[in-house]
Amino acid sequence: MQHYDVILIGSGIAALSAATRLMGHKNVAIFTKSAKTVSNTYLAQGGIAAAMDAADHWQEHFHDTMTAGVYHNDPATTQLLTKEAPRYMAELIGSGMKFDRDGSGALHLGREGGHWKRRILHAGGDATGRALVTHLLEQLQEQIDIVEGEMVIDLLTCDGQCLGIRTRTAGGENKTYLAAHTILATGGCGQLYAHTSNAPTITGDGIAMAYRAGAFLTDMEFMQFHPTVLYKDGKALGLVSEAVRGEGAILRNAKGERFMEQVHPLQELAPRDIVARAIHHELQSGQQVYLDVSPVRGFASRFPTIYRLCLDCGIDMQAGLLPVIPAAHFLMGGIKTDEQGRTTVKGLYAIGEAACTGVHGANRLASNSLLEGLVFGQRTADGILHSSITLPDRVQPDETAGSVATALPSKQEIREMMTEHAGIVRNEQGLTALRNWLAKYDFVHLDHSRLTNEQIEVVNMLTVAWLITNSALERKESIGSHYRSDYPQSGGKKARTEIVRHLVQERVVRG
Ligand code: SIN
Repeated sequence: MQHYDVILIGSGIAALSAATRLMGHKNVAIFTKSAKTVSNTYLAQGGIAAAMDAADHWQEHFHDTMTAGVYHNDPATTQLLTKEAPRYMAELIGSGMKFDRDGSGALHLGREGGHWKRRILHAGGDATGRALVTHLLEQLQEQIDIVEGEMVIDLLTCDGQCLGIRTRTAGGENKTYLAAHTILATGGCGQLYAHTSNAPTITGDGIAMAYRAGAFLTDMEFMQFHPTVLYKDGKALGLVSEAVRGEGAILRNAKGERFMEQVHPLQELAPRDIVARAIHHELQSGQQVYLDVSPVRGFASRFPTIYRLCLDCGIDMQAGLLPVIPAAHFLMGGIKTDEQGRTTVKGLYAIGEAACTGVHGANRLASNSLLEGLVFGQRTADGILHSSITLPDRVQPDETAGSVATALPSKQEIREMMTEHAGIVRNEQGLTALRNWLAKYDFVHLDHSRLTNEQIEVVNMLTVAWLITNSALERKESIGSHYRSDYPQSGGKKARTEIVRHLVQERVVRG
Protein backbone atom coordinates (compact mmCIF):
# COMPACT_ATOMS: atom_id res chain seq x y z
CA MET A 1 0.00 0.00 0.00
CA GLN A 2 1.33 3.42 -0.96
CA HIS A 3 1.41 6.12 1.67
CA TYR A 4 1.03 9.93 1.55
CA ASP A 5 0.71 12.56 4.28
CA VAL A 6 -2.17 14.24 2.44
CA ILE A 7 -4.41 12.96 -0.35
CA LEU A 8 -6.47 15.46 -2.34
CA ILE A 9 -9.31 14.24 -4.54
CA GLY A 10 -10.14 16.68 -7.35
CA SER A 11 -8.13 19.27 -9.26
CA GLY A 12 -10.10 22.54 -9.15
CA ILE A 13 -9.11 25.77 -7.41
CA ALA A 14 -9.74 24.43 -3.88
CA ALA A 15 -7.47 21.40 -4.39
CA LEU A 16 -4.74 23.36 -6.17
CA SER A 17 -4.77 26.15 -3.56
CA ALA A 18 -4.50 23.62 -0.72
CA ALA A 19 -1.69 21.83 -2.56
CA THR A 20 0.33 25.03 -3.09
CA ARG A 21 0.17 25.68 0.66
CA LEU A 22 1.15 22.10 1.56
CA MET A 23 3.95 21.59 -0.98
CA GLY A 24 7.40 21.54 0.50
CA HIS A 25 5.96 20.64 3.92
CA LYS A 26 4.00 17.44 3.29
CA ASN A 27 4.08 14.48 0.95
CA VAL A 28 0.98 15.26 -1.15
CA ALA A 29 -0.89 13.57 -3.99
CA ILE A 30 -3.79 14.82 -6.09
CA PHE A 31 -6.08 12.17 -7.60
CA THR A 32 -8.42 12.90 -10.46
CA LYS A 33 -10.56 10.39 -12.34
CA SER A 34 -10.07 12.42 -15.53
CA ALA A 35 -7.38 14.92 -16.56
CA LYS A 36 -6.09 17.61 -14.20
CA THR A 37 -7.65 20.34 -16.34
CA VAL A 38 -11.13 18.80 -16.34
CA SER A 39 -12.95 20.68 -13.59
CA ASN A 40 -15.63 23.28 -13.01
CA THR A 41 -12.87 25.73 -12.10
CA TYR A 42 -11.32 25.35 -15.54
CA LEU A 43 -14.69 26.23 -17.11
CA ALA A 44 -15.29 29.26 -14.86
CA GLN A 45 -15.77 32.43 -16.84
CA GLY A 46 -16.93 35.15 -14.47
CA GLY A 47 -14.17 35.58 -11.93
CA ILE A 48 -13.44 36.09 -8.27
CA ALA A 49 -15.27 38.57 -6.07
CA ALA A 50 -13.29 40.68 -3.58
CA ALA A 51 -13.67 44.21 -2.25
CA MET A 52 -10.40 45.47 -3.79
CA ASP A 53 -11.60 48.89 -4.94
CA ALA A 54 -11.07 51.98 -2.78
CA ALA A 55 -14.78 52.74 -3.18
CA ASP A 56 -15.74 49.27 -1.93
CA HIS A 57 -15.61 47.66 1.53
CA TRP A 58 -15.66 44.04 2.65
CA GLN A 59 -18.80 44.79 4.68
CA GLU A 60 -20.64 45.62 1.46
CA HIS A 61 -19.44 42.34 -0.07
CA PHE A 62 -20.59 40.60 3.14
CA HIS A 63 -23.98 42.32 2.92
CA ASP A 64 -24.48 41.33 -0.74
CA THR A 65 -23.46 37.73 0.06
CA MET A 66 -25.93 37.51 2.96
CA THR A 67 -28.73 39.12 0.92
CA ALA A 68 -28.26 36.71 -2.00
CA GLY A 69 -28.13 33.83 0.49
CA VAL A 70 -31.42 35.03 2.10
CA TYR A 71 -29.62 35.26 5.48
CA HIS A 72 -29.46 31.48 5.62
CA ASN A 73 -25.64 31.92 5.55
CA ASP A 74 -23.38 31.29 8.51
CA PRO A 75 -22.44 34.90 9.43
CA ALA A 76 -19.05 33.93 10.93
CA THR A 77 -17.73 32.05 7.89
CA THR A 78 -19.28 34.61 5.54
CA GLN A 79 -17.47 37.39 7.40
CA LEU A 80 -14.25 35.43 7.24
CA LEU A 81 -14.63 34.89 3.47
CA THR A 82 -15.44 38.48 2.55
CA LYS A 83 -13.06 40.15 5.01
CA GLU A 84 -10.09 37.96 4.09
CA ALA A 85 -10.80 38.06 0.34
CA PRO A 86 -8.64 41.13 -0.50
CA ARG A 87 -5.65 39.65 1.38
CA TYR A 88 -5.89 36.27 -0.40
CA MET A 89 -6.29 38.01 -3.75
CA ALA A 90 -3.28 40.23 -3.09
CA GLU A 91 -1.25 37.09 -2.29
CA LEU A 92 -2.44 35.41 -5.49
CA ILE A 93 -1.51 38.46 -7.54
CA GLY A 94 1.83 38.58 -5.70
CA SER A 95 2.48 34.98 -6.77
CA GLY A 96 2.23 36.09 -10.41
CA MET A 97 -1.44 35.51 -11.29
CA LYS A 98 -2.42 38.02 -13.99
CA PHE A 99 -5.91 39.50 -13.79
CA ASP A 100 -7.28 41.83 -16.48
CA ARG A 101 -6.45 45.51 -16.04
CA ASP A 102 -7.69 48.70 -17.66
CA GLY A 103 -5.64 51.19 -19.73
CA SER A 104 -4.24 52.82 -16.58
CA GLY A 105 -3.03 49.49 -15.18
CA ALA A 106 -5.73 49.29 -12.49
CA LEU A 107 -7.60 46.01 -12.01
CA HIS A 108 -10.62 45.89 -14.31
CA LEU A 109 -13.49 45.08 -11.96
CA GLY A 110 -16.66 43.57 -13.40
CA ARG A 111 -20.19 43.37 -12.02
CA GLU A 112 -22.45 40.33 -11.68
CA GLY A 113 -25.85 39.45 -10.24
CA GLY A 114 -26.53 40.47 -6.64
CA HIS A 115 -23.45 42.74 -6.39
CA TRP A 116 -24.18 46.41 -5.82
CA LYS A 117 -20.55 47.27 -6.64
CA ARG A 118 -18.06 46.37 -9.37
CA ARG A 119 -15.81 43.87 -7.58
CA ILE A 120 -15.21 40.87 -9.87
CA LEU A 121 -11.61 40.21 -10.93
CA HIS A 122 -11.31 38.29 -14.15
CA ALA A 123 -8.60 36.99 -16.48
CA GLY A 124 -8.49 36.56 -20.25
CA GLY A 125 -11.85 38.39 -20.43
CA ASP A 126 -14.03 35.35 -19.71
CA ALA A 127 -11.38 32.67 -19.16
CA THR A 128 -10.67 33.24 -15.47
CA GLY A 129 -10.82 29.56 -14.48
CA ARG A 130 -8.45 28.43 -17.21
CA ALA A 131 -5.94 31.16 -16.28
CA LEU A 132 -6.16 30.23 -12.59
CA VAL A 133 -5.66 26.51 -13.12
CA THR A 134 -2.72 27.16 -15.44
CA HIS A 135 -1.14 29.51 -12.90
CA LEU A 136 -1.61 27.19 -9.92
CA LEU A 137 -0.34 24.12 -11.81
CA GLU A 138 2.76 26.12 -12.74
CA GLN A 139 3.28 26.92 -9.06
CA LEU A 140 3.07 23.23 -8.14
CA GLN A 141 5.48 22.10 -10.84
CA GLU A 142 6.85 18.70 -9.85
CA GLN A 143 6.51 19.19 -6.12
CA ILE A 144 3.52 16.91 -5.61
CA ASP A 145 2.20 13.78 -7.35
CA ILE A 146 -0.73 14.39 -9.68
CA VAL A 147 -2.36 11.08 -10.51
CA GLU A 148 -4.67 11.43 -13.52
CA GLY A 149 -7.21 8.92 -14.85
CA GLU A 150 -7.42 7.05 -11.52
CA MET A 151 -10.89 7.01 -9.99
CA VAL A 152 -11.38 7.01 -6.23
CA ILE A 153 -13.96 4.27 -5.71
CA ASP A 154 -14.42 4.87 -1.99
CA LEU A 155 -12.84 6.15 1.20
CA LEU A 156 -10.98 3.87 3.53
CA THR A 157 -12.30 4.15 7.09
CA CYS A 158 -11.81 2.45 10.42
CA ASP A 159 -13.52 3.25 13.74
CA GLY A 160 -14.70 6.67 12.58
CA GLN A 161 -11.36 7.74 11.12
CA CYS A 162 -10.56 8.19 7.45
CA LEU A 163 -7.34 6.38 6.57
CA GLY A 164 -7.08 7.07 2.84
CA ILE A 165 -8.69 5.88 -0.37
CA ARG A 166 -9.39 2.90 -2.60
CA THR A 167 -8.90 3.65 -6.29
CA ARG A 168 -9.09 2.07 -9.70
CA THR A 169 -6.34 2.77 -12.19
CA ALA A 170 -6.96 3.48 -15.88
CA GLY A 171 -5.87 -0.12 -16.49
CA GLY A 172 -8.58 -1.47 -14.15
CA GLU A 173 -6.37 -2.38 -11.18
CA ASN A 174 -7.85 -1.69 -7.71
CA LYS A 175 -5.36 0.03 -5.37
CA THR A 176 -5.24 1.34 -1.80
CA TYR A 177 -3.45 4.47 -0.59
CA LEU A 178 -3.06 5.45 3.06
CA ALA A 179 -3.01 9.01 4.40
CA ALA A 180 -3.63 10.64 7.78
CA HIS A 181 -5.41 13.47 5.94
CA THR A 182 -7.81 13.00 3.02
CA ILE A 183 -9.34 16.08 1.40
CA LEU A 184 -12.45 15.89 -0.78
CA ALA A 185 -12.37 18.60 -3.45
CA THR A 186 -14.59 16.85 -5.96
CA GLY A 187 -17.05 19.67 -6.72
CA GLY A 188 -20.82 19.40 -6.58
CA CYS A 189 -23.31 17.37 -8.58
CA GLY A 190 -24.46 19.31 -11.67
CA GLN A 191 -24.57 16.09 -13.70
CA LEU A 192 -27.66 15.05 -11.73
CA TYR A 193 -29.70 17.34 -13.98
CA ALA A 194 -30.63 17.24 -17.67
CA HIS A 195 -28.99 20.60 -18.34
CA THR A 196 -25.90 21.81 -16.51
CA SER A 197 -22.98 24.18 -16.81
CA ASN A 198 -20.78 21.63 -15.03
CA ALA A 199 -17.95 19.47 -16.37
CA PRO A 200 -19.02 15.90 -17.34
CA THR A 201 -17.13 14.48 -14.34
CA ILE A 202 -19.23 16.26 -11.68
CA THR A 203 -21.36 13.35 -10.45
CA GLY A 204 -21.44 14.03 -6.69
CA ASP A 205 -18.69 11.49 -5.94
CA GLY A 206 -17.09 13.21 -2.95
CA ILE A 207 -20.42 14.00 -1.30
CA ALA A 208 -21.60 10.39 -1.69
CA MET A 209 -18.30 9.04 -0.36
CA ALA A 210 -18.39 11.33 2.67
CA TYR A 211 -21.94 10.27 3.37
CA ARG A 212 -21.04 6.58 3.22
CA ALA A 213 -18.16 7.31 5.61
CA GLY A 214 -20.65 8.77 8.11
CA ALA A 215 -19.88 12.48 7.68
CA PHE A 216 -22.64 15.00 8.33
CA LEU A 217 -24.05 16.79 5.31
CA THR A 218 -26.17 19.89 5.32
CA ASP A 219 -28.33 22.16 3.11
CA MET A 220 -28.56 19.61 0.30
CA GLU A 221 -31.85 21.05 -0.94
CA PHE A 222 -30.14 24.23 -2.15
CA MET A 223 -29.20 23.66 -5.79
CA GLN A 224 -28.46 26.78 -7.80
CA PHE A 225 -29.50 27.06 -11.44
CA HIS A 226 -27.47 29.51 -13.50
CA PRO A 227 -29.93 31.70 -15.43
CA THR A 228 -28.12 31.85 -18.75
CA VAL A 229 -26.76 28.75 -20.43
CA LEU A 230 -26.70 28.79 -24.22
CA TYR A 231 -29.44 26.49 -25.56
CA LYS A 232 -29.97 25.17 -29.06
CA ASP A 233 -31.65 22.10 -30.51
CA GLY A 234 -32.64 20.83 -27.07
CA LYS A 235 -29.07 20.99 -25.73
CA ALA A 236 -27.32 23.16 -23.14
CA LEU A 237 -24.13 24.19 -24.93
CA GLY A 238 -22.17 26.21 -22.38
CA LEU A 239 -22.30 29.02 -19.88
CA VAL A 240 -22.99 32.62 -20.82
CA SER A 241 -21.40 34.41 -17.90
CA GLU A 242 -23.41 36.68 -15.66
CA ALA A 243 -20.67 39.21 -16.38
CA VAL A 244 -22.31 39.67 -19.79
CA ARG A 245 -25.40 40.99 -18.01
CA GLY A 246 -23.02 42.99 -15.81
CA GLU A 247 -21.85 44.76 -18.97
CA GLY A 248 -25.41 45.60 -20.05
CA ALA A 249 -26.97 42.56 -21.77
CA ILE A 250 -30.75 42.33 -21.41
CA LEU A 251 -33.11 39.37 -21.08
CA ARG A 252 -36.03 39.37 -23.51
CA ASN A 253 -38.85 36.97 -24.23
CA ALA A 254 -39.88 35.98 -27.75
CA LYS A 255 -42.07 39.11 -27.96
CA GLY A 256 -38.96 41.21 -27.29
CA GLU A 257 -40.23 42.24 -23.83
CA ARG A 258 -37.72 42.99 -21.05
CA PHE A 259 -39.48 40.92 -18.39
CA MET A 260 -37.00 41.44 -15.48
CA GLU A 261 -38.12 45.05 -15.05
CA GLN A 262 -41.26 43.85 -13.28
CA VAL A 263 -39.43 41.30 -11.13
CA HIS A 264 -36.62 42.98 -9.15
CA PRO A 265 -35.00 46.42 -8.72
CA LEU A 266 -31.66 44.97 -9.92
CA GLN A 267 -33.45 43.68 -13.05
CA GLU A 268 -31.10 41.31 -14.98
CA LEU A 269 -28.61 41.56 -12.11
CA ALA A 270 -30.99 40.32 -9.41
CA PRO A 271 -29.73 37.32 -7.39
CA ARG A 272 -29.52 34.18 -9.49
CA ASP A 273 -32.45 32.29 -8.02
CA ILE A 274 -34.75 35.18 -8.87
CA VAL A 275 -33.52 35.54 -12.46
CA ALA A 276 -33.56 31.75 -13.02
CA ARG A 277 -37.16 31.47 -11.78
CA ALA A 278 -38.28 34.40 -13.94
CA ILE A 279 -36.75 32.73 -17.02
CA HIS A 280 -38.28 29.38 -16.01
CA HIS A 281 -41.66 31.08 -15.77
CA GLU A 282 -41.31 32.53 -19.30
CA LEU A 283 -40.25 29.13 -20.66
CA GLN A 284 -43.19 27.40 -18.93
CA SER A 285 -45.55 29.84 -20.61
CA GLY A 286 -44.10 28.80 -23.96
CA GLN A 287 -41.81 31.78 -24.53
CA GLN A 288 -38.20 31.18 -25.61
CA VAL A 289 -35.87 33.53 -23.71
CA TYR A 290 -32.99 35.44 -25.29
CA LEU A 291 -30.05 37.31 -23.90
CA ASP A 292 -29.73 40.43 -26.03
CA VAL A 293 -25.99 41.21 -26.08
CA SER A 294 -26.27 44.14 -28.51
CA PRO A 295 -25.89 46.75 -25.68
CA VAL A 296 -22.50 45.23 -24.66
CA ARG A 297 -19.64 47.28 -26.06
CA GLY A 298 -16.83 45.26 -27.63
CA PHE A 299 -18.55 41.94 -26.86
CA ALA A 300 -16.14 39.84 -28.95
CA SER A 301 -13.02 41.17 -27.23
CA ARG A 302 -14.42 41.36 -23.69
CA PHE A 303 -15.96 37.85 -23.88
CA PRO A 304 -13.83 35.92 -26.41
CA THR A 305 -14.71 32.44 -25.07
CA ILE A 306 -18.46 33.07 -25.21
CA TYR A 307 -18.20 34.77 -28.59
CA ARG A 308 -16.36 31.75 -30.01
CA LEU A 309 -18.89 29.37 -28.42
CA CYS A 310 -21.76 31.27 -30.06
CA LEU A 311 -20.09 31.25 -33.47
CA ASP A 312 -19.35 27.52 -33.16
CA CYS A 313 -23.02 26.92 -32.34
CA GLY A 314 -24.21 28.90 -35.35
CA ILE A 315 -25.71 31.85 -33.41
CA ASP A 316 -26.21 34.98 -35.53
CA MET A 317 -23.95 37.46 -33.72
CA GLN A 318 -25.13 40.38 -35.85
CA ALA A 319 -28.58 40.00 -34.30
CA GLY A 320 -26.95 39.39 -30.90
CA LEU A 321 -29.85 37.37 -29.50
CA LEU A 322 -28.56 34.34 -27.58
CA PRO A 323 -31.18 31.66 -26.76
CA VAL A 324 -30.72 30.73 -23.08
CA ILE A 325 -32.14 28.47 -20.39
CA PRO A 326 -31.35 28.07 -16.67
CA ALA A 327 -29.17 25.02 -15.94
CA ALA A 328 -27.86 23.27 -12.80
CA HIS A 329 -24.77 25.16 -11.71
CA PHE A 330 -23.80 25.00 -8.04
CA LEU A 331 -24.76 23.11 -4.88
CA MET A 332 -24.80 25.44 -1.87
CA GLY A 333 -25.05 22.51 0.55
CA GLY A 334 -22.65 19.63 0.90
CA ILE A 335 -20.33 18.07 3.43
CA LYS A 336 -20.55 20.05 6.64
CA THR A 337 -17.19 21.54 7.59
CA ASP A 338 -15.71 23.94 10.08
CA GLU A 339 -13.51 26.94 9.23
CA GLN A 340 -10.56 24.64 8.53
CA GLY A 341 -12.32 22.20 6.25
CA ARG A 342 -12.73 19.52 8.94
CA THR A 343 -15.71 17.21 8.50
CA THR A 344 -17.26 15.22 11.35
CA VAL A 345 -15.03 12.25 10.42
CA LYS A 346 -11.50 12.34 11.82
CA GLY A 347 -8.85 12.79 9.10
CA LEU A 348 -11.46 13.71 6.45
CA TYR A 349 -11.75 17.25 5.05
CA ALA A 350 -13.88 18.87 2.37
CA ILE A 351 -13.25 22.07 0.41
CA GLY A 352 -14.79 23.93 -2.53
CA GLU A 353 -18.24 23.03 -3.77
CA ALA A 354 -18.20 19.58 -2.15
CA ALA A 355 -18.13 21.33 1.25
CA CYS A 356 -20.74 23.39 3.01
CA THR A 357 -18.97 26.10 5.00
CA GLY A 358 -22.22 28.05 5.22
CA VAL A 359 -20.95 31.01 3.20
CA HIS A 360 -23.51 30.70 0.42
CA GLY A 361 -26.69 30.35 2.44
CA ALA A 362 -29.71 29.47 0.33
CA ASN A 363 -28.30 30.95 -2.87
CA ARG A 364 -24.68 31.69 -3.79
CA LEU A 365 -23.64 35.20 -4.79
CA ALA A 366 -21.94 35.29 -8.19
CA SER A 367 -18.15 34.80 -8.23
CA ASN A 368 -17.97 33.73 -4.59
CA SER A 369 -17.23 30.09 -5.44
CA LEU A 370 -13.67 30.45 -6.73
CA LEU A 371 -13.08 32.73 -3.75
CA GLU A 372 -14.37 30.07 -1.34
CA GLY A 373 -12.09 27.45 -2.94
CA LEU A 374 -9.09 29.75 -2.64
CA VAL A 375 -9.70 30.82 0.96
CA PHE A 376 -10.88 27.53 2.47
CA GLY A 377 -8.44 25.43 0.43
CA GLN A 378 -5.58 27.33 2.05
CA ARG A 379 -7.15 27.47 5.50
CA THR A 380 -7.60 23.69 5.40
CA ALA A 381 -3.97 23.22 4.40
CA ASP A 382 -2.88 25.53 7.23
CA GLY A 383 -4.93 23.46 9.69
CA ILE A 384 -3.34 20.24 8.45
CA LEU A 385 0.14 21.72 8.84
CA HIS A 386 -0.65 22.14 12.56
CA SER A 387 -2.62 18.91 13.01
CA SER A 388 -1.55 16.09 15.30
CA ILE A 389 -3.67 13.43 13.55
CA THR A 390 -1.68 10.34 12.61
CA LEU A 391 -2.57 6.94 11.17
CA PRO A 392 -3.08 4.16 13.73
CA ASP A 393 -0.08 1.82 14.18
CA ARG A 394 -2.03 -1.06 12.67
CA VAL A 395 -4.35 -0.20 9.82
CA GLN A 396 -7.35 -2.51 9.64
CA PRO A 397 -9.88 -0.83 7.30
CA ASP A 398 -13.61 -1.54 7.66
CA GLU A 399 -14.49 -4.26 5.17
CA THR A 400 -17.18 -3.59 2.59
CA ALA A 401 -19.25 -6.75 2.49
CA GLY A 402 -21.54 -5.73 -0.34
CA SER A 403 -22.98 -7.17 -3.48
CA VAL A 404 -22.72 -6.45 -7.19
CA ALA A 405 -25.41 -4.07 -8.41
CA THR A 406 -28.39 -5.98 -9.82
CA ALA A 407 -30.35 -3.17 -11.44
CA LEU A 408 -29.43 0.48 -11.70
CA PRO A 409 -31.05 3.25 -13.73
CA SER A 410 -29.12 5.08 -16.44
CA LYS A 411 -27.61 8.52 -15.78
CA GLN A 412 -30.12 9.95 -18.24
CA GLU A 413 -33.07 8.51 -16.27
CA ILE A 414 -31.73 10.07 -13.06
CA ARG A 415 -31.30 13.42 -14.82
CA GLU A 416 -34.83 13.41 -16.20
CA MET A 417 -36.37 12.53 -12.82
CA MET A 418 -34.30 15.14 -10.94
CA THR A 419 -35.06 17.86 -13.48
CA GLU A 420 -38.77 17.15 -13.41
CA HIS A 421 -39.21 16.77 -9.66
CA ALA A 422 -36.28 18.43 -7.86
CA GLY A 423 -35.53 21.28 -10.27
CA ILE A 424 -36.14 25.04 -10.15
CA VAL A 425 -39.67 24.59 -8.78
CA ARG A 426 -40.57 21.64 -6.52
CA ASN A 427 -43.56 20.38 -4.57
CA GLU A 428 -44.57 17.59 -2.20
CA GLN A 429 -46.20 15.44 -4.87
CA GLY A 430 -43.28 15.51 -7.29
CA LEU A 431 -40.65 15.06 -4.59
CA THR A 432 -42.56 12.11 -3.12
CA ALA A 433 -42.78 10.48 -6.55
CA LEU A 434 -39.03 11.02 -6.97
CA ARG A 435 -38.30 9.61 -3.53
CA ASN A 436 -40.36 6.49 -4.29
CA TRP A 437 -38.58 6.04 -7.62
CA LEU A 438 -35.14 6.35 -5.99
CA ALA A 439 -36.15 3.92 -3.23
CA LYS A 440 -36.55 1.15 -5.82
CA TYR A 441 -32.79 1.00 -6.27
CA ASP A 442 -30.21 -0.43 -3.93
CA PHE A 443 -27.33 2.03 -3.82
CA VAL A 444 -26.31 1.21 -0.28
CA HIS A 445 -25.23 -2.42 0.07
CA LEU A 446 -22.74 -2.54 -2.75
CA ASP A 447 -19.12 -3.64 -2.95
CA HIS A 448 -17.54 -0.89 -5.04
CA SER A 449 -14.51 -2.98 -5.91
CA ARG A 450 -16.87 -5.17 -7.97
CA LEU A 451 -18.68 -2.32 -9.76
CA THR A 452 -17.65 -0.67 -13.01
CA ASN A 453 -16.61 3.01 -12.90
CA GLU A 454 -19.86 3.90 -14.66
CA GLN A 455 -21.88 1.98 -12.04
CA ILE A 456 -20.01 3.75 -9.22
CA GLU A 457 -20.88 7.12 -10.72
CA VAL A 458 -24.54 6.06 -11.01
CA VAL A 459 -24.50 4.90 -7.37
CA ASN A 460 -23.00 8.23 -6.30
CA MET A 461 -25.60 10.12 -8.33
CA LEU A 462 -28.42 8.08 -6.77
CA THR A 463 -27.04 8.72 -3.29
CA VAL A 464 -26.83 12.48 -3.80
CA ALA A 465 -30.23 12.55 -5.54
CA TRP A 466 -31.66 10.74 -2.52
CA LEU A 467 -30.17 13.31 -0.15
CA ILE A 468 -31.37 16.30 -2.19
CA THR A 469 -34.85 14.84 -2.50
CA ASN A 470 -35.25 14.07 1.19
CA SER A 471 -33.86 17.46 2.19
CA ALA A 472 -36.19 19.21 -0.24
CA LEU A 473 -39.12 17.29 1.21
CA GLU A 474 -38.07 18.19 4.75
CA ARG A 475 -37.81 21.93 4.08
CA LYS A 476 -41.43 23.00 3.94
CA GLU A 477 -40.89 26.58 2.84
CA SER A 478 -39.54 28.50 -0.14
CA ILE A 479 -36.21 30.18 0.45
CA GLY A 480 -33.49 31.15 -2.02
CA SER A 481 -32.88 28.45 -4.61
CA HIS A 482 -35.25 26.03 -2.85
CA TYR A 483 -38.61 27.05 -4.27
CA ARG A 484 -41.63 24.99 -3.24
CA SER A 485 -44.77 25.82 -5.23
CA ASP A 486 -46.80 24.37 -2.34
CA TYR A 487 -45.25 26.68 0.31
CA PRO A 488 -45.09 30.48 0.31
CA GLN A 489 -41.81 32.36 0.07
CA SER A 490 -40.29 32.90 3.50
CA GLY A 491 -38.11 35.80 4.58
CA GLY A 492 -35.23 33.54 5.47
CA LYS A 493 -34.72 31.17 8.32
CA LYS A 494 -31.58 30.55 10.26
CA ALA A 495 -32.43 26.89 10.90
CA ARG A 496 -30.29 24.60 8.77
CA THR A 497 -31.33 21.11 7.76
CA GLU A 498 -28.80 18.58 8.86
CA ILE A 499 -29.08 15.33 7.06
CA VAL A 500 -27.48 12.67 9.10
CA ARG A 501 -27.04 9.01 8.54
CA HIS A 502 -30.58 8.18 9.56
CA LEU A 503 -31.78 8.74 6.00
CA VAL A 504 -29.58 5.98 4.72
CA GLN A 505 -30.22 3.89 7.84
CA GLU A 506 -33.88 4.15 7.04
CA ARG A 507 -33.17 3.14 3.47
CA VAL A 508 -31.10 0.17 4.69
CA VAL A 509 -33.88 -0.99 7.00
CA ARG A 510 -36.49 -0.76 4.28
CA GLY A 511 -34.16 -2.26 1.69
C1 SIN B 1 -20.64 33.25 -14.36
O1 SIN B 1 -19.66 33.64 -14.98
O2 SIN B 1 -21.77 33.68 -14.54
C2 SIN B 1 -20.45 32.19 -13.32
C3 SIN B 1 -19.74 32.74 -12.16
C4 SIN B 1 -20.22 32.06 -10.92
O3 SIN B 1 -20.80 31.00 -10.96
O4 SIN B 1 -20.04 32.66 -9.86
